[in-house]
Amino acid sequence: MTENDFLSRTNSKTVENGSVTWQSPSNIALVKYWGKKENQVPANPSVSFTLDHCKTTTTLKFHKRESPAAKDEDIDFEFYFEGKKKEDFKPKISTFFKRIENYCPYLREYHLEISSENSFPHSSGIASSASGMSALALCLMSLEKELNPEITNEYFNKKASFLARLGSGSACRSIEGSLIEWGKHADLSDSSDLYAIKYPYKVDAVFQKFQDTILLVDKGQKQVSSTVGHNLMHGHPFAEARFQQAHDNLHNLKPIFATGDLNAFMNLVESEALTLHAMMMSSNPYFILMKPNTMEIINKIWEFREATALPVCFTLDAGANVHVLYPKKNKVEILEFIKNELVAYCENGQYICDQIGNGAKKL
Ligand code: PMV
Repeated sequence: MTENDFLSRTNSKTVENGSVTWQSPSNIALVKYWGKKENQVPANPSVSFTLDHCKTTTTLKFHKRESPAAKDEDIDFEFYFEGKKKEDFKPKISTFFKRIENYCPYLREYHLEISSENSFPHSSGIASSASGMSALALCLMSLEKELNPEITNEYFNKKASFLARLGSGSACRSIEGSLIEWGKHADLSDSSDLYAIKYPYKVDAVFQKFQDTILLVDKGQKQVSSTVGHNLMHGHPFAEARFQQAHDNLHNLKPIFATGDLNAFMNLVESEALTLHAMMMSSNPYFILMKPNTMEIINKIWEFREATALPVCFTLDAGANVHVLYPKKNKVEILEFIKNELVAYCENGQYICDQIGNGAKKL
């Protein structure tokens, strides 16, 4: 499919007003997306686990305006976060609406009221853009479906992922579960830079309900946003090698997923996490998002794994928090280790127990 397939057709129905609510999860990348081209096209393919508990719930209320907003006018919306009107969140949503207006021209005909809340603490350092943008994209698609009831579920999900990507790249991986791939890759003929797909090959049962305990090391505002970080991959001395590595890692994951080879999985996932941060440290300007406690936790995980041979590993996103990944069958002993040895490194002892989930839900 190309961008043109997502341009809206003529509406087959008239809708005066309505309301829709979607709950959409966050996701954690195993092969990381870092670096992008124009129009939110990723510089390399990525793959992620969809999460279950870290999610955003968004309600979209729409009322038909007397006349549509003019071409030079912005799309007419209000935004509420946890019940309060939030003017400072509006610019990000305005930018999103500008990027998608050709694909959703019907938005000009409505006054939109968007209300969102997160299941995780707002200032937890957990990126809410993936869950937030995917929940909003799904709400917009529900309005599109009311206007065009004939659209298929497949088109609905693909376009929701396509729109979410234009809000925040990694958000396109939050529509479905549980293992999701985004970005053109030679092994996956249906893969696309424009939207994410369900990972199409065999995945061993050991990865079902895989656990992700998120250790909140630093809940403060990041010094460098991911937008700035992605842009620093332009002209980065290691960029091409890194993009090729991501392609290779995705290829190498195929037999790992199929056979449930946890040692190879942990090696690849940790290498990806450290490479992501190595790219940050070797860009210009350079920056470090890990904190001393991030390193303490990583070392403790390695010591524990060495001592017990239990399958536990870490990954990182663009921040200091650590995602501890392990199979469900080892939950009791690994959670015990986390509580006894790792929680001390978390800000105010805070952590979130999550697991792999099945994707967004309409409420
Ligand atoms: O979706 P963005 O632009 O916030 O970028 C996310 C980048 C990482 O979380 C670091 C990696 C990824 O693939 O999710």
